[in-house]
Amino acid sequence: MSRPRLRPHMQSLIRCYATASANASAQGLRGPRRPKKEGTIADVFTLLTSEEPLLPERFAALKKEIVTDPQALVHSWHGVLKELENAEQEIQVEKSTNVSFADIQNGLSEEQLKEIKRAGVIVVRGGVSAEEALSWKQSIREYIQVNSKHGVKGVPPDRPAFYEIYNSPAQIQARTHPAVIETQKYLLTLWKASSGTPISMRTPVSYFDRLRIRPPGPSVFTLGPHIDGGSVERWEDPGFRKCFRKILDGGDKWTEHDPFDATPRLNANRDLYNAPNQCSIFRPWQGWTSLSSTRAGEGTLRVLPFLNLSTAYVMLRPFFRLRDGAYGTSVSSTAVPLDAGAWELDLDSPAFPGSLPRKAQQMRPETHPHLRLDKLVVSIPNVEPGDQVYWHCDLIHAVEAEHNGAGDSSVLYIPAVPLTQDNAAYLRDQLQNFEAGIPPPDFPGGIGEAHFTHRGTSASINSVAARRILGLEPFDVPPDADEGEKDLIQSVNAALF
Ligand SMILES: [Fe+2]
Repeated sequence: MSRPRLRPHMQSLIRCYATASANASAQGLRGPRRPKKEGTIADVFTLLTSEEPLLPERFAALKKEIVTDPQALVHSWHGVLKELENAEQEIQVEKSTNVSFADIQNGLSEEQLKEIKRAGVIVVRGGVSAEEALSWKQSIREYIQVNSKHGVKGVPPDRPAFYEIYNSPAQIQARTHPAVIETQKYLLTLWKASSGTPISMRTPVSYFDRLRIRPPGPSVFTLGPHIDGGSVERWEDPGFRKCFRKILDGGDKWTEHDPFDATPRLNANRDLYNAPNQCSIFRPWQGWTSLSSTRAGEGTLRVLPFLNLSTAYVMLRPFFRLRDGAYGTSVSSTAVPLDAGAWELDLDSPAFPGSLPRKAQQMRPETHPHLRLDKLVVSIPNVEPGDQVYWHCDLIHAVEAEHNGAGDSSVLYIPAVPLTQDNAAYLRDQLQNFEAGIPPPDFPGGIGEAHFTHRGTSASINSVAARRILGLEPFDVPPDADEGEKDLIQSVNAALF
């Protein structure tokens, strides 16, 4: 691909950004995002060694700024370690998270909701038929084949599993499938917001993401345990850390942390460093729709299904370190001692284990030993083509390193995202990129699929519901909307249409 071919696109994009920026400031939505660097999914992960690079000294000052009552924090730490010790591996992923699409349509039971909120993950079966999901996969294979001459990017490059493809017709069909939209509407309403908050949890908007078609066998590129949507931003950004205020306040308050409170999330900045692959918007549920029959051990999703407990531990972890000589107290000289007595408060060092700017928040046995990742991170239940899986934005998750099955292990990443001011601005920018055939704003930039044959376009999308979720039609104000929801929808409609 030669540079001269890129220029017209880049020039028209620059013009678009300039126009959108002027329009946005006039209409109240934030201006367009800066394009991100070209690359792949591999850029958001780094193989951390036991020697993590130190963060700048200002991160030590940040710790002191955050912790106002050190003893209260120690109390929380001890409480969380105790709970983690007792976290049993009866992890009810199988029982708690399996629901049918009919369950979603009828409303989940109290017991189901309780379990799903504890685990932070759900599998919805039957909304999309297996035939439909398999036809999407076939269509994507053909799309890859027919466009191979344009250079289809994948990771790992010699035997791709993750494709830098966002705009294939099958992805558009999946994102706008009525059962997918209905499922997202329901799952978003499991979140609550204070009265008057400018958000509509019952108005899903599309967030374009890539896809995975993974052949059997081990992969040189695997996604170890991590949390999406920022790393050190959780502490560094004042708005983001407010989402975890109860945990950082210390004492027993961490047990009152509500991971489904949407209100503080609106002021969180998850992407302070404009990092490719970093989800910059409020995305309550990341998710995928399966395109294959995939069992545990076949390259599927793994999760640590104790949402509140793992969140409390992750947020407290930077404020504690092993005491000098603590290894000497351990039975094994190599295992990290887990007993609370081996750990002490650390408000002096800039250490934020597993948190590197521009990367996902990562967890390893060395950085987060009390999570006992080898025991508590478990594979999700078997999935069939068409099954939808969603997990909470704070949930620790991974992709199995091995794929020992016979067929491919394939998914389309499709999250559930509500309408907010910031998400509407993203939707506007995403639509513009879609029309140009380039990657969505949060993803590695470049020319993407601009020259691809048969890529999806908005001209082929007819249903109002589908057009609305993509930002092509005005949003409806629900009759019972409160002032916050009503004002939001009206102002977004005024800005976008
Ligand atoms: Fe992830």
